[in-house]
Amino acid sequence: MKEIYLDNSATTKVLEEVARAVFDTMTLHFGNPSSLHRKGIEAEKIMQEARENIAKALGASPKEIYFTSGGTESNNWAVKGAAYARRRKGNHLITTAIEHPSVLETFAALEREGFSVTYLQVDREGFIDLNQLKEALTPETILVSIMYVNNEVGTIEPIQGAAQIIKASSNALFHVDAVQAFAKIPLVSKLEGIDLLSLSGHKIYGPKGIGALFVRDKVSIAPLLHGGGQETGQRSGTENLPGIAGFGKAAKICIDNLEKWHSQMVQLKERLMKGILDNIPDTVLNGPVSGAPHILNISFLGTRGEILLHALESKNIYVSTGSACSSHKSGNSHVLKAMGKSEEEQDGAIRFSLSPFLSMEDIDYTIEVLADEVREIRKLMRR
Ligand SMILES: Cc1ncc(COP(=O)(O)O)c(C=O)c1O
Repeated sequence: MKEIYLDNSATTKVLEEVARAVFDTMTLHFGNPSSLHRKGIEAEKIMQEARENIAKALGASPKEIYFTSGGTESNNWAVKGAAYARRRKGNHLITTAIEHPSVLETFAALEREGFSVTYLQVDREGFIDLNQLKEALTPETILVSIMYVNNEVGTIEPIQGAAQIIKASSNALFHVDAVQAFAKIPLVSKLEGIDLLSLSGHKIYGPKGIGALFVRDKVSIAPLLHGGGQETGQRSGTENLPGIAGFGKAAKICIDNLEKWHSQMVQLKERLMKGILDNIPDTVLNGPVSGAPHILNISFLGTRGEILLHALESKNIYVSTGSACSSHKSGNSHVLKAMGKSEEEQDGAIRFSLSPFLSMEDIDYTIEVLADEVREIRKLMRR
């Protein structure tokens, strides 16, 4: 039976061209970029090309791109690195209530170290309020961290507006977790007003365990990893060359196809959203109608997300109940809770995350299966 993969915000299938680049760096160009001989120089060249591809995709300079082990490390490094580097300038940090755990838990760790954190609240669609941001900024504020696209509901936050407010009324650094935005939606031109930006390879058809942090030129943050001085001394450790080569290749392919894939996903999402909301009773959209094109979150009232997930799995359709990284934990989503969703809405929530490699037939089949499974689960749960 055909598999329909609707969990692309958890991770994506690696493109064949990307896998080939990874294979070649493992078997042919396997040198250490720090080695002085030809094999090292060859590896260094591959790394430089990947750095250029990612920089170009962001409108940044290659020297502003630092490779990391993924989105989690990039977020940890940006937030802790900025807080530690600026601790003498102030003690106050700002983030939002709906960040990914790799941001929220890092702020919680900093709170335990004595920093004070303001958590911006969101409305029913998951948007932050720029007036609340303005009011939260104080002369003590050294860092603001806001995600670009929410991984559970697809809300695109007003990053440009936030950057303008932060830069006009404070000296704080601005960090953006762009893991779900990069190469999926067009970003703020030249990352204007953004000092730090996190990326991850496996969300864009690249390998797992590779990511990057954009650090604006002349912005200084404290390194977290000390050692051999790789990445100009900012992030030590022998570089993950296969990951880097794959990430660079994936970024180039995604950016070259951004417009086309974006419009394909908009159409797929619209069909899925309308198909569910119009044909299955007691369903509620979580997030804005026009959020990111690859993320759709819907509550099927009177069901439990986890039961529905497994019912769909039995038909080879793969979805998520929320953020994959936290879905092993018990309890409901902190994002839906922050959006003021009821317990019933939280319990029955399913996240569908799309790729341009799905067909309209896949979507129609999914809607059909969903209608049947939801009816069955509701019957069982009423007993
Ligand atoms: C918004 C967001 N930030 C950060 C991460 C973590 O990225 P990684 O899996 O590369 O550590 C994820 C992964 O789900 C995410 O969705």
